[in-house]
Amino acid sequence: MTAEHITAEELQNLDEAKVSVNEHVLGTKKLYIESYGCQMNFADSEVVASILRTNGYSTTANLEEADLVLLNTCAIRDNAEQKVRHRLSALNKNKKANPGLKIGVLGCMAERLKTKFLEEEKMVDLVVGPDAYRDLPNLLQEVESGHKAVNVFLSREETYADISPIRLDSNGVSAFISIMRGCDNMCSFCVVPYTRGRERSRDPHSIYDEAKGLFEQGYKEVTLLGQNVDSYKWSSETEKYNFANLLEKVASIHPDLRVRFSTSHPKDITDEVLHTIKKYDNICNYIHLPAQSGSSRILSLMNRTYSREWYLERIHKIREVLGEDCGVSHDMIAGFCTETEEDHQQTLSLMDEVVFDYGYMFFYSERPGTPAAKNLKDDVSLEDKKRRVNEIIDKQRQHSAIKNQMSVGKVFRVLIEGESKKSREDFAGRNDQNKVIVFPRKTYKKGDYVNVFVNSCTSGTLIGEIVD
Ligand code: SAH
Ligand code: SF4
Ligand code: F3S
Repeated sequence: MTAEHITAEELQNLDEAKVSVNEHVLGTKKLYIESYGCQMNFADSEVVASILRTNGYSTTANLEEADLVLLNTCAIRDNAEQKVRHRLSALNKNKKANPGLKIGVLGCMAERLKTKFLEEEKMVDLVVGPDAYRDLPNLLQEVESGHKAVNVFLSREETYADISPIRLDSNGVSAFISIMRGCDNMCSFCVVPYTRGRERSRDPHSIYDEAKGLFEQGYKEVTLLGQNVDSYKWSSETEKYNFANLLEKVASIHPDLRVRFSTSHPKDITDEVLHTIKKYDNICNYIHLPAQSGSSRILSLMNRTYSREWYLERIHKIREVLGEDCGVSHDMIAGFCTETEEDHQQTLSLMDEVVFDYGYMFFYSERPGTPAAKNLKDDVSLEDKKRRVNEIIDKQRQHSAIKNQMSVGKVFRVLIEGESKKSREDFAGRNDQNKVIVFPRKTYKKGDYVNVFVNSCTSGTLIGEIVD
């Protein structure tokens, strides 16, 4: 989704608002699972569904028939947590109507609040952190015998490498693959190192096997996921892999398997990665490179460990190696501790220098226990935070329109992902640069690659027609 479809308020809710509800048909007991937050959480829910399937649970999209409801939660901003609190109050009614219903909280909010969750939300039976999902069958037994169950141990090794995820919510074309877990970066605003633990990389052979298996099942695109994919590293006695090596290994599966990845970190993205993207047509020309701020002073307080100049140099390098056509998007935080109008102007001017294709924009939300919460003052008023994020969104809207306009008159190779949201007569898919294109379906089907001529655009979408 791009910024221009949504208001500031909705944007703030963007990653929290996505909820997946899924259906599967095996087992006797019914699991209803909802995921909030980032793609890693959605990928984790697929691991959880797999673990519970071997324990007799099939997934259902119908809350009314569920024996177990799991919420896979996000703690990145306060409103992400509020969303889960509201959902739990609503679930209270279901529990009253069906006292046998068990309710569990998974993911980052479970990890942050631990047993406090059980004190604060009386209807919750089960609290499980992101590294403890293998223990779910045991914990559920405890719950069945009338106790509350908690496991929030973080691991230094767990990658769930051997678990074959059950693809929930899948369009059958595109799938996520977790390549690493945790984060060691300690950006001062961020709760993730506390909720996801230490960074660890998954065995590249299991990643390759998973991607190959997906391609053999008909999938045409995989997105490799990690909080900082550029710090992927894995070695055995005979082999050594960095992220560029892993990308190459996955890209070599088949030219028709598209490879995407997220998230890149400006301090770690290497020229080797850029050259690997260039070498393989099926590695998409698109990089999500969160900036967070355009002010070096603020970046330093955020502990991002790069400056404005470093960030701009990386953008310059991306365009030098991959050309102006490489899609680049950003994350930006408005109103971080001590941010002045001058700092804010620097964020806007960074955006002017780069002209991003799109972005995800938030205002700062203090997270308990983080370095910023401990050492810095959350001193920008809510009013200023909201005004600044709106100015950032307005600028991004203008830039996205410019970038989309530049695509008009060009032909792109598009992977058809399914029907367009607005019309059954149209298909929607994405091009190499991650831009959504809508076009009349003709005789093609989901999962086909087609060449599409772009004849017009809205601020968020390209519109075109298939050229044979
Ligand atoms: N690992 C990724 C970011 C993951 S969190 C990276 O380093 O880029 C996704 C985004 O949420 C971040 O990029 C940041 O823009 C935003 N974010 C994280 N913590 C936040 C907070 N406390 N307040 C507001 N936005 C936050
Ligand atoms: Fe959070 Fe920074 Fe790690 Fe991203 S790199 S998850 S922002 S600590
Ligand atoms: Fe949220 Fe956890 Fe992802 S805090 S953004 S679900 S890593």
